Amino acid sequence: MNQDQVSSTDAPASYYERHIFFCLNERKNGEACCALQNAQAGFEHCKLQVKRAGLSGPGQIRVNKAGCLDRCAAGPVAVVYPDAVWYSFVDNDDIDEIVESHLKRGQVVERLRVPPDLGR
Ligand code: FES
Repeated sequence: MNQDQVSSTDAPASYYERHIFFCLNERKNGEACCALQNAQAGFEHCKLQVKRAGLSGPGQIRVNKAGCLDRCAAGPVAVVYPDAVWYSFVDNDDIDEIVESHLKRGQVVERLRVPPDLGR
């Protein structure tokens, strides 16, 4: 192993425990997009709730904007990494449940998961 390689035992801990990415993509041509389904409001509510819960920052949770995640048919969508769990949400109650259950305790909210075959 040369100096630039890192073995898996040397891998640093992840900077954030979890990332949640919200698609905020907007299409002007009338095609389905998350922006037209209140994605921005969901993103802002999530950011606020994570901050209020004291969960934001290094070693904890990061809430990020994203462009199209190519799962528009399920929109609005958000995905949590490193768990790779995709959610579709409707309102702030859904976001609250994702924050409380998944981001805070690591428990997936099954009822909000995007079906595996739903894409663009
Ligand atoms: S527009 Fe949101 S996933 Fe494509």
